[in-house]
Amino acid sequence: MAEFLNPFSGLTPDKKMSLSELIRAIRLSIAAEEEAIHLYTAQADATDHPLAKKVLLDIADEERVHAGEFLRLLQILTQDEDQFLAEGKQEVEEMREELYQEGKIVEGEPPTVGPLKES
Ligand SMILES: [Fe+2]
Repeated sequence: MAEFLNPFSGLTPDKKMSLSELIRAIRLSIAAEEEAIHLYTAQADATDHPLAKKVLLDIADEERVHAGEFLRLLQILTQDEDQFLAEGKQEVEEMREELYQEGKIVEGEPPTVGPLKES
């Protein structure tokens, strides 16, 4: 997010980033994209103005593309991010399968809880 109060935020540093610093910067950029997605989606949810809602959701989708670009860059830079992401995905799939077997979720139904569930 913008740092308008910091007069040094736009200055080029004296040295280039190391690989480790670049990786951390990309992780921050991914977080910034996710924050923007959250903000624009929340704003779209909070208005009934059709044009504002359409523009906000369109921009939110563009931020999702940006997040994907940063994520791919992170995968290239770290060379092991895919392994960690795959491990996390597998853990969720195992939990999902467990709940499905217990009849606590229905295949194809988006997961919602209590008052969040639309009637
Ligand atoms: Fe973006």
